[in-house]
This record gives sequence, C-alpha cells and structure tokens, in this order.
Amino acid sequence: MKDHPGLSLQQVPVLTDADAWSQWYAFCRDALHCPDFFVARAPKREAIMQAYYMGDTGSQRELIAEHLVANQKFHDQLTASLARSELVMSKLDAGVVVYLCAGMDFGLELATMAGLNGTLFLVDYAESVVADLKRELAKHRDSFPNAQVLHTPVHLVADELARHGVLLGMVDAVVAIRGLHRVPNEERVLTLASVKSLLKPEGILAITELFENDRPQDRPASPGAWHWHTLSYQTHLQPMRLVHDSGPVLENQDDKCRLLVFQ
Ligand SMILES: C[S@@+](CC[C@H](N)C(=O)[O-])C[C@H]1O[C@@H](n2cnc3c(N)ncnc32)[C@H](O)[C@@H]1O
Repeated sequence: MKDHPGLSLQQVPVLTDADAWSQWYAFCRDALHCPDFFVARAPKREAIMQAYYMGDTGSQRELIAEHLVANQKFHDQLTASLARSELVMSKLDAGVVVYLCAGMDFGLELATMAGLNGTLFLVDYAESVVADLKRELAKHRDSFPNAQVLHTPVHLVADELARHGVLLGMVDAVVAIRGLHRVPNEERVLTLASVKSLLKPEGILAITELFENDRPQDRPASPGAWHWHTLSYQTHLQPMRLVHDSGPVLENQDDKCRLLVFQ
C-alpha cells in the first residue's frame, strides 16, 4: 500500500486494498475496454478473466453484455428509489454531499442532483479510479463546477474534507453505493463514527448494498467483501435512526440489495 502525502497513515492504518482495485479497474478499462465491468461479482470476474486469457472473445463479449444489462437494471432501480424519497432528494439537492467508495458509477447522477448550488465530493482510494473520475468530471466542469474527487481511504475522509473547508457538522448527506461492504470491519467502524461527526444534525446517510440478512446461504461472500447485518449498521450509527428501508428490492446482478437511510 502506498503512502500519500498529507494522510495520517501512521496514526490509523490504511486497511483498504486500493492497489488491487486500481489494477482490476485498469484491466477492465484497458484490456476489456469496459470500465463498467469493474463492479462485477467475483464469479463473473473470474469467468471473464479466463475468457480473456484463453482468447475466447465470444464468451468475453457475452459476459460483458450480460453484465451491462444487469448493471443498468440496478442503476435504474436505485435511481428511481432515491428519487422517490423526498427526504433523500431534499438533502441531495443543493446540499453538501459526500459519495463514499464512488467508483465510476452514480457520480454524475449525484452531481446532477446536487445541481449548480450543491457541492459533491467523490471519495475513492484506488489510483486509476481517481484519475479517471477526475478526467470524467473535467468534461462536465460547466455543469458541475462544485464536484470534486478526494483521493483518500474512507476512514480518513474528515481530514481530507477539512482541507477543502468542510468541517464537522457541515455535511447534508453521505451516500455509499456497493461500497461500504468492501471496507474492512475495523475501518468501517472508524468511517461510520466519522460520518456521524461530519453530518449536520438533520443530515442523512444513504447506504445501498447486499446486507448479510439478505444474503442467501448458498451465496458465498465475495473475497474482499464483509457483509453486515442491517442491525450492525443501526448499532454503530446510533443515535442516528433508520428512517427508510426499501426492503431487498434492488437487483444487483442477482443480489437483492436495499436502500437504507439513517438520519
Ligand atoms: C464495487 S466498487 C463500487 C463503485 C460505485 N459506488 C458503484 O456502485 O458502482 C467499490 C469502490 O470502492 C473503492 N474502495 C474500496 N474500499 C475503499 C476504502 N477503504 N476507501 C476508499 N475507497 C474504497 C474501490 O476503489 C471501488 O472504486
């Protein structure tokens, strides 16, 4: 794991495996020409790498096409679910919004929701992802003048925000989509504590992922993912309260995800 200037890595160990994310993302972008594939589940990642290295372009194309359809479905369902919640929309619209584990998906949608008067921080720690996110945002600078990318592990996000003038108690909404379950337990606990301090008293945290209570017994946990029960989030986020639970209705490549909103 590389050290980055300005981050207090000695005080709090960086637990994220950002280099692995960077390599996988660069492979999807450069070898597969399909950056969207990088959110694929582990079995599909293995299958496509095998097809790629065996030169089986037919299977490769088929797997990618299948994945893109499934990912788009998740995307549409989640966008509709966010849009249906007045509370979520009121915080995303013109507020200070932090998108944790941003990756390459949903950033532009959140920037659109934040609008010209809002401020959006996209947080990721994988170097290739951060470089591409910055490039992508630069193309839309006129539409989203207040969207910025922060290169930091999520548990140190408060330090990084402070460098951009956003202090504790100044954030309207924190969003995490298919992200927090990738953050190791110890780092996740630190991150949730930090989110609580960053939010305004009425601020919200919106989490969407596969929760342990929705994971079928025959669906193994992916390597590099630690699925939490929704109750674990409730415990760690106290005194915030769970104010919205969509139920396991968001289909992410066969996984049933939920949207939880804490306030
Ligand atoms: C599965 S992708 C999800 C991306 C996007 N949110 C989506 O739904 O398409 C997880 C992202 O989280 C980032 N990530 C994982 N652990 C992280 C950590 N501890 N700190 C910051 N970013 C992290 C990875 O680099 C990756 O871009």
